[in-house]
Amino acid sequence: MTAIHSLKDLCLHELSDLYSAETQIIEGLPKLIAAVSNKKLSQALSQHLTATQGHLMRLDKVFDKLGEKPSGEVCAGMKGLITESTKLLAKGNSIDAPLLDAAIISAIQRIEHYEMAGYGCARTYCQQLGESDCEALLRATLFEEDEADKLLTRLALDEINLKAQKAIGASA
Ligand SMILES: [Fe+2]
Ligand SMILES: [Fe+2]
Repeated sequence: MTAIHSLKDLCLHELSDLYSAETQIIEGLPKLIAAVSNKKLSQALSQHLTATQGHLMRLDKVFDKLGEKPSGEVCAGMKGLITESTKLLAKGNSIDAPLLDAAIISAIQRIEHYEMAGYGCARTYCQQLGESDCEALLRATLFEEDEADKLLTRLALDEINLKAQKAIGASA
């Protein structure tokens, strides 16, 4: 880990963590999308994948504005979350489609909350450091992560968890 001796160092550490997290999501999300059965969920996740590519571009802009580069360090937190989510898809782990959809929502909401924690802190550091352009870019991403999280909650409550509950009933 790069040495942290100032709030700017801490901010760069946080931004590098987010850079790695977003990169890992872009790589990992397609596997989860491919395993989804519900059309609305699949669309929501595909849209969030496109948004995620935008998040990485915003981070590039933030680093450019700060005159810095991501450290290249792998975000172990996101690595763990992606490993957890892809465990659901492991061979021999045959989960009924409606239950798998509900489980994928749960796994992705963990990822969104991780991102929101990171963006919330990084945004605050940029604000304190007087980097208002960077703060605005990070705030825009934070808003999109929050919207994605809320949409997943709505899909779960309106439809997917109900179908998952029926799936339990069918096999009981
Ligand atoms: Fe993101
Ligand atoms: Fe996200």
